[in-house]
Amino acid sequence: MNAIKVAINGYGTIGKRVADAVDAQDDMEVVGVTKTAPSFGCNLAVKKEFPLYCTSDETKRISSFSESHFECCGGLSNLLSIADVVIDCSPGNVGSDNLSKYQDAGVKYIFQGGEKHELTGLSYTSSANHTENLNAEGSRVVSCNTTGLARTLVPLYEYCGSLNVECTMIRRAADPGDSKKGPINAIKPVLKVPSHHGPDVMTVKPEIVINSLAVAVPTTIMHVHAIVADLPENHGLTTESIVDLWKGTPRVVVMHGGGNRLTTTAEVMEMARDIGRKWGDLHEIFVWEDGAKLVGDRLYYFQAIHQESDVIPENIDCIRALMGVESDWRSSVAKTDAAISRYYSL
Ligand SMILES: NC(=O)c1ccc[n+]([C@@H]2O[C@H](COP(=O)([O-])OP(=O)(O)OC[C@H]3O[C@@H](n4cnc5c(N)ncnc54)[C@H](OP(=O)(O)O)[C@@H]3O)[C@@H](O)[C@H]2O)c1
Repeated sequence: MNAIKVAINGYGTIGKRVADAVDAQDDMEVVGVTKTAPSFGCNLAVKKEFPLYCTSDETKRISSFSESHFECCGGLSNLLSIADVVIDCSPGNVGSDNLSKYQDAGVKYIFQGGEKHELTGLSYTSSANHTENLNAEGSRVVSCNTTGLARTLVPLYEYCGSLNVECTMIRRAADPGDSKKGPINAIKPVLKVPSHHGPDVMTVKPEIVINSLAVAVPTTIMHVHAIVADLPENHGLTTESIVDLWKGTPRVVVMHGGGNRLTTTAEVMEMARDIGRKWGDLHEIFVWEDGAKLVGDRLYYFQAIHQESDVIPENIDCIRALMGVESDWRSSVAKTDAAISRYYSL
């Protein structure tokens, strides 16, 4: 079978990671990445030998790359003309302007969580709705927070048959490479109540009843979720069996915080850096074993999300769903993760 030709439109925090993850797979290839203008990120594309394109088709903007000594292969239209699928990794709420370009070019498209569900009418998380996405024209990989919630809640829902969830998202203020966002000296509640994060889970698993509150705090490395989930009566679960359920779930890491001296996000990210993936990424959701407790039918737990990377492997599985090449989500996830592990161990 020919490799799936993947274009990455927007080569920033998410785009550069998705490009590497695609490059790691044996059933797909990166046919090009885009930047708005020459900048330091272009060097990375050159080093990786990813063909570089401009997000615009304007001649002046395309030629600005060569003026900075970068070889630019053309504009977005040129890139779309050689792609089977495009991963839109442009900044949130910008991607919607690109939809008609993808449709006109006849390529499949995947947006990120910064866009609204309504843009595509279809969203994606591997464990929740891979099948629903099979052979679709386009989809949206849900945000880092929603992906994190789905990773631990979907297996619980599959076991229990119903879940009623309230959660608080304690969100990093900015990504490490971001100098524009804040707060740096405050805790900022999201005053739109409930926040969109919890309800967004229902775009991939409508059966889970969920609401959320969110605050932004002055940290850059991870989000933390404080989750309260009401299980149905006669669920037959214990704290230990729930922890075992998560231990058997792909892309969830469960560890004892006290026993491993992993009691904060700083130590969790230091452990992630030890794994050795580029940028110190942690694709898995981290659950503190000693922070989980079932009291009656109510489950309390904490989890931490590496916001820059948990959605990366989901984009790969979403490509396979849209291209209709792998109908079983677990097979796709296993293939994606094994390829990424090999890539970073070379
Ligand atoms: N960062 C996270 O933690 C995170 C987590 C999950 C999901 N997301 C979502 O992923 C998406 C990308 O976020 P990001 O953090 O990667 O943003 P980012 O770091 O700001 O990168 C955005 C990239 O898109 C390019 N771009 C700008 N305008 C564009 C346009 N009109 N068309 C195509 N590309 C354009 C930028 O080009 P230049 O480099 O030339 O400026 C940049 O390379 C957003 O929807 C966001 O909500 C982000």
